[in-house]
Amino acid sequence: MKDKHAHPIGVFDSGYGGLTILKEFVRKLPEYDFVYLGDSARNPYGGRSYETVHAYTLEAVKKLFAMGSHLVIIACNTASAKALRTIQQKDLPGIDPARRVLGVIRPTVETLGPVTKTKHVGIMGTTGTVSSESYPIEIRKLFSGFTVTQEACPMWVPLVENNEIGTPGAEYFVRRHLERLMAADPEIDAIILGCTHYPLLLDVILKFTPPGVSVIPQDNIVAESLTDYLSRHPEISDRCTRSGTVRFFTTDSAKHFDELGTIFFRDPVRSEKIVL
Ligand code: DGL
Repeated sequence: MKDKHAHPIGVFDSGYGGLTILKEFVRKLPEYDFVYLGDSARNPYGGRSYETVHAYTLEAVKKLFAMGSHLVIIACNTASAKALRTIQQKDLPGIDPARRVLGVIRPTVETLGPVTKTKHVGIMGTTGTVSSESYPIEIRKLFSGFTVTQEACPMWVPLVENNEIGTPGAEYFVRRHLERLMAADPEIDAIILGCTHYPLLLDVILKFTPPGVSVIPQDNIVAESLTDYLSRHPEISDRCTRSGTVRFFTTDSAKHFDELGTIFFRDPVRSEKIVL
């Protein structure tokens, strides 16, 4: 940030998906300053190892801290699944224990209680998020007697990033993964969309979701959760500045980020390129 007195809320994603979350942050908390960092030079993170996702995410968090953020939201399920805990427990105490880094998995899981009657829940996410088992682990911490079935959807992120939303190709892959999930456990009555890209596929997903099954996208949930967090933690919210600014940074071409980012943010995006 050029203004050294600005303390924007940092929002990080491997690339573009976090823009769906940022959109809701800005809608619910328009008075706050936000800075978005998309590591589009190295995305997608979905198939990468723990070590790599942790190393990349930590670099991004440090960059957002250097830009003045005291609070950073990891608006990416893959990074939340594979890097958040280590950053919170091992890295942050040595960097600045007064700063906060939060993820998207816990707030999403917290909403499950009233949504499912059968207590059979489905999770759709990237291969990395699914193999980390982060969702089943968080669900078991908060609820007992739940049956959790996961389905990795490695094609869904590329479909969104290539603007194939709503095409026959997108319908084929959305339907295929939903059918596989429901075949694995026909008692599922709630499906978490555990990837920040998936709100863009919501219409197609709803088209192929069996009646009586609730679909839970994250954008709104995570924004509600941040609003609640800021009201419960004045010691953090007082350290976030409020001039209503939103700035975008990418690790790759700004022109490409702006073109694709506009699809995710549903408003014009003007980014600057940075090096981590
Ligand atoms: N947006 C990321 C997530 O929520 C998926 C994109 C990626 O694989 O980098 O998991």
